[in-house]
Formats: sequence, C-alpha cells, structure tokens
Amino acid sequence: MTESTTIRWEQDRTGVVTLVIDDPRQSANTMNQAFRDSLAVVTDRLEAEKDTIRGVIITSAKKTFFAGGDLRDLIRVTPETAQDLFDGGMALKRQMRRIETLGKPVVAAINGAALGGGYELALACHHRIALDAPGSKIGCPEVTLGLLPGGGGVVRTVRLLGITDALLKVLLQGTQYNPRRALENGLVDEVADTREDMLARARAFIDAHPESAQPWDRPGYRIPGGTPAHPKFAANLPAFPANLRKQTGGAPYPAPRNIMAAAVEGAQVDFETAQVIEARYFVELAAGQTSKNMIQAFFFDLQAVNSGANRPQGIEPRKVTKVAVLGAGMMGAGIAYACARAGIDVVLKDVALESAVKGKGYSEKLCAKAVARGRTSQEKADALLARITPTAEAADLAGCDAVIEAVFEDTSLKHKVFQEIQDVVAPDALLCSNTSTLPITALAEGVERQGDFIGLHFFSPVDKMPLVEIIRGERTGDEALARAFDLVRQINKTPIVVNDSRGFFTSRVIGHFINEGVAMVGEGIEPASVEQAAAQAGYPAKVLSLMDELTLTLPRRIRLESKRAVEEAGGTWTPHPAEAVVDRMVDEFGRPGRSGGAGFYEYGEDGKRAALWPGLREHFTRAGHEIPFRDMQERMLFSEALDTVRLLEEGVLTSVADANIGSILGIGFPGWTGGVLQYVNGYEGGLPGFVARARELAERYGERFAPPALLVEKAEKGEVFTDAR
Ligand code: NAI
Repeated sequence: MTESTTIRWEQDRTGVVTLVIDDPRQSANTMNQAFRDSLAVVTDRLEAEKDTIRGVIITSAKKTFFAGGDLRDLIRVTPETAQDLFDGGMALKRQMRRIETLGKPVVAAINGAALGGGYELALACHHRIALDAPGSKIGCPEVTLGLLPGGGGVVRTVRLLGITDALLKVLLQGTQYNPRRALENGLVDEVADTREDMLARARAFIDAHPESAQPWDRPGYRIPGGTPAHPKFAANLPAFPANLRKQTGGAPYPAPRNIMAAAVEGAQVDFETAQVIEARYFVELAAGQTSKNMIQAFFFDLQAVNSGANRPQGIEPRKVTKVAVLGAGMMGAGIAYACARAGIDVVLKDVALESAVKGKGYSEKLCAKAVARGRTSQEKADALLARITPTAEAADLAGCDAVIEAVFEDTSLKHKVFQEIQDVVAPDALLCSNTSTLPITALAEGVERQGDFIGLHFFSPVDKMPLVEIIRGERTGDEALARAFDLVRQINKTPIVVNDSRGFFTSRVIGHFINEGVAMVGEGIEPASVEQAAAQAGYPAKVLSLMDELTLTLPRRIRLESKRAVEEAGGTWTPHPAEAVVDRMVDEFGRPGRSGGAGFYEYGEDGKRAALWPGLREHFTRAGHEIPFRDMQERMLFSEALDTVRLLEEGVLTSVADANIGSILGIGFPGWTGGVLQYVNGYEGGLPGFVARARELAERYGERFAPPALLVEKAEKGEVFTDAR
C-alpha cells in the first residue's frame, strides 16, 4: 500500500499540511480498512518529510468530521475473533500515537459531527477547533451502545479533563454536545463560525506552537485533579460505585463498569499501558451480548424505523401546516406543544375556552423552563407560543390539514367530536385519534372518511417521550398511513406502525408486565422484592408504582371490556391471577391508585409517593414464601416477550425493529436487552434456550408462559427474529 485513498494530502508553501479525510466510496468517513491503510501511508510520509513540515491540520470534506468505527463489523465480533479486534485496535492506536508524538503541531479542524471514533481522532491532536455547524455533535456516545471508546478515548479524556470530569461529562453518560457546550465542558479548545475562520485559527495555533506536544507527554505532567492514589482524589472515589448504581439501577449494563475500570486503572499507569488496559476492556464489551443487543436496537433498528422501512412506498412525503388538537387535557396540551415546537400551527380546542387556554398554559410553562435553562431563546419561545391558538369554537379549525383527537377515552364522545369538526377542517385532512386502548376500526365508524382515519398513540409526558405508535385500522388507506408517518417524523418523534387490535402493541404488552408483578404479590411474595426485581431487571419504573400511576381501576375497566368482547365473539376468557388482587385492592381496601391517594403505595398530603402500604404484607404476603430472584425477573421479561411473539403471529406487529424500538422507547422494556424480540434472540442458548426456559416457567407458574407456535417453529428451524429477508 503506497497510496492514500481516503485521506488527501494538501501542502501549502509555508509547510502546513492539511489532511482532508474524504472517503470516495461513502457519504461519511468511517474507520474502515481503506482509512486505516491511508492513515498508515500519510503517517509514514509525515515522519519522512518532517523537516519540511511546520504543522498539520486534520479535517474532512464531508458533512461530518469522522463517523468512527463501522458497527456492522463490531456486531459480528465473537469471543473467537476478539483477539483480532484487540490487535487491530492496538495497531490503530499506535498509528494515532505516532501523529501525536510527531513533534509538530497537529490541529483537529472539526467541521461537523465528531462522535466516538471521530472525537477520539480529534483527541489525538494537540488542539481542537470545532465549527459551529447546525446539528454538529461532539462526544463519546459509546456507552449508549454498550461499548467504551476504544480508540484512546478513555485514556486521553482522563488525561485531558481529569478522571472525574472524564467519567461524568464524557464517558459514563455518552452526552453529545453541540460545539458551544463542548467548549464549555473542555472537550474542544475553540469554536469557529465559518470554515475559513476554523482553518485560519488552526494556522494561528500552528504559528504560535511550533513544537507542540500533548500535555501528558511533557515532563512533570499530572492528571488534572489527581489519580486515585492522590489523597485529594481519593475523596471522590467512593461516590463512583453509587453513581454507577444510580445510572444502571443495578441492571446488567457492563459498559459503565468497564469504562470506570479502564479509567481508574489507566490513570495509575503510563500512557502505553493504559492503552492496553482500555483495549482489553473494550474487546470484552464488543465480544459480549449486551453491546450486540444495544447496537442492534439503538443503531440498526432505530435507523430502520425512522427511515420509513414501514412507510408505504411511492407516496409523496407531505408536511402538515396547521393541526387541530381536540381536547386540551394532559395529552392534548402535550401534543400541541410538540407540534408547535416543530413549527406547525396548532388550534387547540376544548369544550370551554378556559380549558383550552389552560392547555396552552402547559406550553407556556415548558417554554419558560427551556428559556431559564438556556435551551432556547426568548424569541424562539415566543414564536412557539404564538403558533398555538386556544379555542372552544369548531369554526376556528377551518383549514387544518390534520386533526389529532385527545378527548376522554370514550367511543361515543370521540364519535361526537369528529362529527362536529369533519366538515370544518380541510376536506382531505388526516384524522387521528390518540386513544390508548379503543380499537381504531370501530372508532373509524364514527367518521365519514374512514380511509383517512388512523390511530396516533402518544405517550405521556409527550414532550419527553420519543415514541408514537401508529395504528392502522381495517379501512385506513396507505395514503393516510404515509401521512401519519410523515407527521410523526415532522415533530421529531419515532413512529412504529401496528395493525389494529385491542390495546395495540404497547398497551397490551405493558399490561403483561404489570399483571405479572401484581400476580406475584397475590402469590404471597414480599412486595418490596417484586419492586426490586423489576428495578434490577432494568425497568425504569417499578411495577407496583407503575400500576398505581395508571390507577387500578383503568386496567380493570379495560379488562372487563376485553372480557366482554372475547365472550361476545364466542371465546372464553382466561382470568389472570392479577385480577383477583386488583379487585380486592379496589373493592375491599378502597385503594384505586395514586390519583385516589392510596394504592399499593401510600401517598402524602402533597400526593408524593411514600412507603409501600403495610396492609399488603398483612393481607397478601405469606411469610417465607419466596421464589428465585431470577424467576421473578424473567416472569416479567418473558411475559412481555411471549405476548410480543403472539402479536407477530396475529399480524398486529409486522416488523421486528418496530417491536424492539417500541418496547424500549414506549413501555420501558430494559435497554440492555436490545428490545423485546432481541431479548429472545440474545437469550442464553438462543431461541431454543428461550423456549426451554419458557416451558420451565409454564410448569412452575402457569400456562401463560407456554411458548407460542411461532417461537417453537423458529427455534426448531434455527432462525432468529429479524426483518432481514
Ligand atoms: P384528560 O382528561 O386530561 O383530557 C381530556 C380533555 O378532553 C379534557 O380537557 C376535556 O375537557 C376535553 N374534552 C372532553 N370533551 C370534549 C369535547 N367534546 N371537545 C373538546 N374537548 C373535550 O385526558 P388525557 O389523559 O389527556 O387523555 C386523552 C386521550 O388520550 C384519551 O383517549 C386517552 O386514552 C389517551 N391517552 C392517554 C394517555 C395518558 O397517559 N393519559 C397516553 C396515551 C393516550
């Protein structure tokens, strides 16, 4: 290899070499073989021609600076190929080390996003200047994929920022900073407004520092804030394990643990040894199952879902300009905010003007908070608020090209409000309902244009929750589905698409999680253990507290409706053991949940959750009745996974990526699993292992754990759940 194919060498008369990364085969520069080869070639040349070179600028010709490692390669690493990954990683690190110790100033001119490997490359330079380009992000998000920055990112951030800041600001949260915030937090040294400005600043640095070296290569260097051996630092050390527990809830996320170990161990040894330590911890993560799960979900599945793998083809994308939101309660107010934030005009309608104004007040509060925290300007907040018009008059909805209904959960009321407005809005307006449980096909019967009617299920709180579940009714047209998809993307949320069914995907599956937790209380298991099992499995909300939030009467009402529907269709209803517990809680003890001031928990005067209700132990707990902790956790995880497989069988779900993303972003299925079906794929022993375990749980805890036919069939054929065809 004598030629660099992805890094252009541009040398000016003053001896400044600009290395322009520009992979001709891809739209973004990645850490592929061509890049590695090119880096070796340019590094050789830099060393050979050192006497004629004054300094080096590294930049890129793409929109992003450098995209880092190719995740398609990483997801295929196995324990058998781990040594190759280690060797390759060390070779790359030696290459970057040669640049950093060249003896000439090297500046990273970060012209766009520098995340992961891109930021690591910049860290190997002596000076970092970021262009303040819109959407440009800087940081080390590896932890969010179950990995750590294995290209020197741990070693160098610890030496640049000190161990505490490196861990808390860069490594453990994986925060992606915009250029200004990257500057404030010490990730870069300067921010430039234009590309010319950036390059001029780079030259100025080279002029001012003819013999540059990294701080850690200078005599007398000490890690900022001291190493763990340093008495001042030792005071911080005890806080880290607690922080770690706080971040993971005790759930099996190996990445934060490895990051911390690589940082703490690496801080006590020389640079080269620290690089080896980092590589070992990196390879351990890359060869393990969790990083594969997380890469599958947060990279591949998320991309598939957002890019419209499930959107009908051949329909021109359309943008909504004016939306009618019907009902200004908790959900309607949140939906109005999300739409206005995306630049859409909103008419927010409730029965009384006063309620609509109150609904707009919610946006006012969110805007004030965003301004106070510096996340937006007063000007932008004012513009957002100006887009929301509260009203009680149907006539004000004229010209709306989309309607999102969020009135009380009641079929005849929903029919009535659509009747009121369908002739006022644009004649082809998209008609959406935010129902969380009512079947869309039946709701559609209340409108004239059933082909334009669709379910758009938001999650609470709308401003924070990234998912929207789109529900296609039997008569929903392709055009409506495509427009609903486009609308969800327009407001920067992630759309999954499912077919109509009672509870759709998310409400139905989360019901299994809750039922399983409640059933365990009914069996006599200590309620505090049930809560702990959910937390340590990685669920963001404990199961009994979640039940209280939803209120016990709501699932009961839904259950009674479902029961009636099943029986009307000639079927038999199989009661879940949780039902008896809920009935006793409501009827016998008068504890309907948080909104009623009493549920599985007790609540203070201020509505704040206090302790678990002691009556639970008195009325339900059987002293000494215990089941293995693993069984408790897997009963929750399996109950959701098994029903998801049934939803695939029933054709309610049509995509594995939608199931995985919907489960994590919508209903809190633990992220380390990669989502509800990736959990099945990645289970010990694969699908056959999962089937065997499901049968074991069925024998111990009830037929509801029996594996569905589709699962058994796939396990027998040696297949996994995937959308790849
Ligand atoms: P809410 O009770 O907070 O708000 C309902 C609003 O609708 C009230 O402001 C009420 O005055 C208004 N309303 C009633 N009749 C109306 C009419 N004829 N015209 C205009 N407005 C009318 O209820 P919430 O929680 O916002 O729920 C609304 C819908 O969203 C329900 O279908 C619910 O199932 C669904 N949903 C709720 C979620 C939640 O977490 N609360 C999550 C997802 C969906």
